[in-house]
Amino acid sequence: MTRDDPFGIYVHWPLCKAKCPYCDFNSHVRRRGLDEARFLAAYLTELRHFAGRAPGRTVTSIFFGGGTPSLMQPRTVAAILDAIAGHWGVSENAEITLEANPTSVESENFAGYAAAGVNRLSLGIQALDDSSLKALGRQHTVDEALAALALAKQNFDRVSFDLIYAREGQTLSDWMDELTRALEHAADHLSLYQLTIEDGTPFAARRAAGTLRMPDGDKASAMYTLTQEFCETAGLPAYEISNHARPGSESRHNLLYWRGHDYAGIGAGAHTRISEGGTKRALSTLKSPEDWLAQVETAGHGLSGDEPLSAQEAADEYLLMALRLAEGMDLARFAALSGHAIDETHLAALAGDGLVARHGSRLMATPSGRLVLERVILELAA
Ligand SMILES: C[S@@+](CC[C@H](N)C(=O)[O-])C[C@H]1O[C@@H](n2cnc3c(N)ncnc32)[C@H](O)[C@@H]1O
Ligand code: SF4
Repeated sequence: MTRDDPFGIYVHWPLCKAKCPYCDFNSHVRRRGLDEARFLAAYLTELRHFAGRAPGRTVTSIFFGGGTPSLMQPRTVAAILDAIAGHWGVSENAEITLEANPTSVESENFAGYAAAGVNRLSLGIQALDDSSLKALGRQHTVDEALAALALAKQNFDRVSFDLIYAREGQTLSDWMDELTRALEHAADHLSLYQLTIEDGTPFAARRAAGTLRMPDGDKASAMYTLTQEFCETAGLPAYEISNHARPGSESRHNLLYWRGHDYAGIGAGAHTRISEGGTKRALSTLKSPEDWLAQVETAGHGLSGDEPLSAQEAADEYLLMALRLAEGMDLARFAALSGHAIDETHLAALAGDGLVARHGSRLMATPSGRLVLERVILELAA
């Protein structure tokens, strides 16, 4: 790590209006609301802690994620951005993203976020038909989402939106139509996620009970392949498994994770990777918003984990993240991190199966390799 490497700040807002039945992110519903000023004070305290752990860095990207950060008041976002600028240098062209849910109430905050300094909005639209939105437990309609998207485009130079596909009952031709419409509305970036059934969610319970009619693996793979082709043709090629952008409009913050750079994560349930004395450390904070708040108020941080990564762990993490990218991984960097090169016989076997391709020191998964990425990663890390 050098001081000039990218450095990001992630701010986690752990609250949502309702819990979607597929979601296992650290998001909680608090019907009685919360004391936002108290939360802000805790964010500022935790930022101070991280400023001491990663001094002298220049922040190149900031990401407000959730949960639902569009439930934050713009003045809270502004105060956090001011504090970040007080602790670190912030690069002139820093990317500052906020994740928003596209309800009409939340859209009213967009102009305020832009005035606070947010320059990129990522909208969780998820589906372009109302019955699917209902099945996903969303709090907005398609019309509301498209109105929020139009407003986002007026307020921000850079706008992305998320969709989830391979949903219950969805056919390949349904997804083809939906993706075609999505591409008509796309600005510079799209995140297109295949629905995953996460343990402990209501969708997982329905799957176990046999009442969730998910597309089978072949159909889901066909949807994935179609997604790559349609986005490529529309000028938004995949730069990561689920992320598509016009060239130059990739999310710099997310690239920082996949390229293995340092970032500090504040808020309940946030993760951090920072290099201290040549060692990469993995930090995490308490997941419960109330426990996090109480600990920050007494200890000055909400940390629940703070461990060094071994050389092999740091290298494996780099491999796992970087192979998600179209640009792939740098074999020399893996060797420098782990102290050994990847086994040539494993590389040759995967290349022979058409799952990876090598260009000099770079290794990337091919389109067929991306369909079985977990297997590719396991064989390379073995
Ligand atoms: C944690 S959410 C936060 C954004 C915002 N709260 C929202 O729901 O729009 C980030 C994105 O992850 C995706 N996501 C969450 N759970 C998922 C799942 N089980 N399968 C696929 N995508 C999922 C959704 O597309 C969502 O927009
Ligand atoms: S998908 Fe988004 S809105 Fe729904 S529970 Fe998860 S974080 Fe909250």
